[in-house]
Amino acid sequence: MAGRRYDVTLFGATGFAGRQAARYLSEHATPGLLWAVAGRNRAKLELLQAETHASGLVVADADDPATLDELAAGTRVLASTAGPFAHRGGPVVEACVRQRTDYADITGETAWVRGLVDRHHAAAAAAGIRLVPFCGFDSVPSDLGTLLVASFIRDRWGQDTRRVSASFALRGGWSGGTLATLLHSAETGELEVGRDVLLLNPPEHASDAERARSVDRDAVEWDPVRRVWLAPFAMARVNTRVVRRSNALLAAAGRGYGPEFAYEEAGEHRTRAAAAATRLGLKILERALAWEPSRALIRRLGPAPGEGPPETAREHGAVRLRLVGEAASGRLVRATLAASGDPGSRVTVMCLCQAALALAMQRDALPRSPAGGVLTPATGLGLLLLDRLEAAGLQIEIGPLVRA
Ligand SMILES: NC(=O)c1ccc[n+]([C@@H]2O[C@H](COP(=O)([O-])OP(=O)(O)OC[C@H]3O[C@@H](n4cnc5c(N)ncnc54)[C@H](OP(=O)(O)O)[C@@H]3O)[C@@H](O)[C@H]2O)c1
Repeated sequence: MAGRRYDVTLFGATGFAGRQAARYLSEHATPGLLWAVAGRNRAKLELLQAETHASGLVVADADDPATLDELAAGTRVLASTAGPFAHRGGPVVEACVRQRTDYADITGETAWVRGLVDRHHAAAAAAGIRLVPFCGFDSVPSDLGTLLVASFIRDRWGQDTRRVSASFALRGGWSGGTLATLLHSAETGELEVGRDVLLLNPPEHASDAERARSVDRDAVEWDPVRRVWLAPFAMARVNTRVVRRSNALLAAAGRGYGPEFAYEEAGEHRTRAAAAATRLGLKILERALAWEPSRALIRRLGPAPGEGPPETAREHGAVRLRLVGEAASGRLVRATLAASGDPGSRVTVMCLCQAALALAMQRDALPRSPAGGVLTPATGLGLLLLDRLEAAGLQIEIGPLVRA
């Protein structure tokens, strides 16, 4: 990849997440990093370049494959925030495969990524191109948190991991782009496709036994270990599929978490009533998304693309992920990942930018196997990304859990 003009190019840079990513890169890029903002609107890009001092700008439109080839050929890493990805992302990834360019994005659209796996995994794996979707809040904390727990169990105790249970407590808002993506997924039927608990697994990792232990939470229950009420979690249908794909890809490389590994994810609540209300709220949202008149109402009342929580709300947000891992012997590990800032914007932007910087600046230190393909944060970037995130402000704790 020598001779490329930029180390990192940020596509979708003029959107809500993209603008914040450009500011993040302007503050955190390694000295000397050559990076560009890219999108379809030159005037907006010029303003953003002036504000962030990006090294360059590239005009490219997701509907114009020739511009995408030029975009991908001019950079070592393409980081994309141009969603809905099922609507605009396919040709961008195709251009990256053609131009042998590493790629990261912040999609949470599992059905779209299933299509990428079918179309590009084999070719990208053979060519050693890293295509790493899910580098936002979906699904970096879940995927790297699980890798951390399973690595601890393997390194300290030499054992397989039988189970990881993860739970989120968070404070944050939604951007118009996220809402547009959710509505698009509902309209196209992709939300329904995303119900498949093993959607992202290769066929050899989709046995009946694996399916039986991969269940989406529906219950509200008291967790005596974390001492909170657990309820269904809105993003679990994304994160669980990603963690399972990581385990399957690692198993193929001889480094799986364990033959009986199971992962589940929940939301944490202080009271049973709050947990039950969240469960009910998610069911109502699901019904509303299935019906065009209620989708139209959500579209009218929610934020428009380009908008999102204001600066104060982004500042005020927070996320904490707690994981409990069980080794094959029954010994337990607990881990916590915590960050301040709105999960859908601040945390997402930090994860994406650090992923792009890792691909650009530390490619030789990334996990060697698998060396390419449609990967996940855990398989494409591994613990190196967690180290970078810790240096960037993510708080991480891990240790054995001794039951009282
Ligand atoms: N994984 C996570 O945790 C997470 C968190 C937040 C967001 N997201 C996802 O990230 C995506 C972006 O969210 P957002 O709030 O930033 O959305 P947004 O503000 O609507 O931004 C979308 C971007 O796509 C660009 N775009 C639209 N059509 C294009 C085309 N034909 N060619 C090139 N660029 C085009 C827009 O350009 P213009 O400025 O010219 O309109 C804009 O820059 C959504 O899919 C959302 O679901 C994921």
